[in-house]
Amino acid sequence: MNMDFYMPARLVSGELCVKTGGNIFKSYGSKCLIVTGGRSAKISGALHAVLSVLSEKDISYSIYSEIAENPTVTSCRIGGEKAREQNADFIIGIGGGSPLDAAKAVAIFAANKEFRNEDIYKRSIPAKALPVLLIGTTSGTGSEVTGVSVLTDDAVNMKKSISGEDCYANVAFLNPRFTDTMPLTVTISTGLDALSHTVEGWFSPKRSDIAKSFGTLALGQIFGQLTDIYKYDKLPNKKGRDALFYGSIYSGLSLNITGASFAHTLGYVLTEDFGISHGRACTAFMPFLIKRAGEFCKNRLDEMLNILGTDEDSFLEIVKGLTNIRLNISAEEIEKYCERWDNKNKNFINSPGGFTVSDVRLALKSLSE
Ligand SMILES: [Fe+2]
Repeated sequence: MNMDFYMPARLVSGELCVKTGGNIFKSYGSKCLIVTGGRSAKISGALHAVLSVLSEKDISYSIYSEIAENPTVTSCRIGGEKAREQNADFIIGIGGGSPLDAAKAVAIFAANKEFRNEDIYKRSIPAKALPVLLIGTTSGTGSEVTGVSVLTDDAVNMKKSISGEDCYANVAFLNPRFTDTMPLTVTISTGLDALSHTVEGWFSPKRSDIAKSFGTLALGQIFGQLTDIYKYDKLPNKKGRDALFYGSIYSGLSLNITGASFAHTLGYVLTEDFGISHGRACTAFMPFLIKRAGEFCKNRLDEMLNILGTDEDSFLEIVKGLTNIRLNISAEEIEKYCERWDNKNKNFINSPGGFTVSDVRLALKSLSE
């Protein structure tokens, strides 16, 4: 057995985990900066729960709620300045993938006063970072359990990820009740992101036994709920919310081992240039990914469909129905995109059968089929 498993974040879960977690918060200090996107942190009740526990434990705080979807490096650098101004001991991230990923970057900028925007992408020396505590309000990102943060480099308007030891949370509080107020569109989009993480990991050459175990746990929970949403066009009940939320955590645990495939790399383009939400942008390439899996790792495809109790056509009908994207990208535009990558892209290598720039052409073309 080849095992290399590292996931240093402490996970505490349950409906009362924030309320009863006061001593955990206090163990990180007496001043903190809360990083949020504004809306979901409030509506979900997560911000309220955090503020109650901070006041109970006499922890002072400021709130930095300037994090937009696909957070820019600049917004994170400014957050880092705020944390330093306040002498924050630690950072709390509350929200969906964007605020959680931003909280990690804010913690790095806070601890590295000299960092300019571009320095966050220089990963040769592991950066220092303030401790990060995360509270998710969606069921997709997996950021709670991955050593990754995806940021938009606003100098070039491109989504680029950073990863490493300094990109892990210290603690993630997992309470599925904070996802209850997610509207249908966000539930679908984030659920598709979690599905994509799981399926991309399933076919990854880096899939280990432990990644397969997490993937198996994630697959049924996520796909079962997405199937019901597709069939009945309504929000999941409480049990369904639990399944989607914990499914997304298992999916993140799998992703943290396997990494993503070409679908995430190409998906970034659909978000940047066509405004398509991250999850749908990734599953837009699911038919192409499944086709490649059928060619290069048919056993794993059969194994996955067997776990899901479905066949390829039915699986793709649901994914395509929920993703609902048709794009005609011109041949010239496709050629322009191809200049962006080379065959050594780590997510391309991490795809079934490998993936080359020639395959990018076919994958982008497939969006109009
Ligand atoms: Fe993702």
